[in-house]
Amino acid sequence: MSVDDLIFVVSDDLIYTYSAKRFLEDRMPKVVILRIGHRVFRDSRVTTHVCLTARALGADQVIIADHEDKVVESTIRDVTNRFGGPFDVQSGKPWKQAIRDWRAIGGRIVHLTAYGLPLPKTLPEIQDTDKDLLVVVGSEKMPGEIFKVADWNVSVTNQPMSEVAALAIFLDWFKQHREFGHEFSKARVQIVPSRSGKEIQQLSA
Ligand SMILES: C[S@@+](CC[C@H](N)C(=O)[O-])C[C@H]1O[C@@H](n2cnc3c(N)ncnc32)[C@H](O)[C@@H]1O
Repeated sequence: MSVDDLIFVVSDDLIYTYSAKRFLEDRMPKVVILRIGHRVFRDSRVTTHVCLTARALGADQVIIADHEDKVVESTIRDVTNRFGGPFDVQSGKPWKQAIRDWRAIGGRIVHLTAYGLPLPKTLPEIQDTDKDLLVVVGSEKMPGEIFKVADWNVSVTNQPMSEVAALAIFLDWFKQHREFGHEFSKARVQIVPSRSGKEIQQLSA
């Protein structure tokens, strides 16, 4: 590693060395998705798609609230092992606890809902925060308290749609399309973009 790749942070009598990439990643606000209302079996496919979409579009973690679903967890871990990370998924934490924990670390909360204020109006304010962001998406009817605890109730149009679509559009706007250049670490395989057919490249770990 060249000297250009290093940043030195001095804190009292300690000196840390970081790669520039790691340093920047550590200081980027984290984006975590809180999936509320997941019903094991019935919602497993859609929740898996919430997780896959979150990972592909540069979020750091999904918390599946209230219900443990080891099948969804292991599917997503398998994708992350093969296609890279870092990306984490956990399930079973009560949603109120997840919100309390998030508040305790000073994070901000976006609730995606057809009833909220339009994304184009709210986005500048959301992007202004340098705090970690919890993005809440539902499945069936959401508890009314969520509307009160959210810093922003955000709509992706005021029409009912899928949580997967709403999350994808939110992340794409929030990240200003930079997720297209997102680099995943420790990938074992990588898709090679192709005009026709499917090409997968094996990477050395
Ligand atoms: C299929 S919807 C069901 C919503 C439920 N009927 C209700 O009234 O709360 C599931 C989730 O998708 C998200 N969603 C649906 N339409 C949305 C929209 N237009 N803008 C933002 N999020 C939306 C919300 O997070 C919602 O909880």
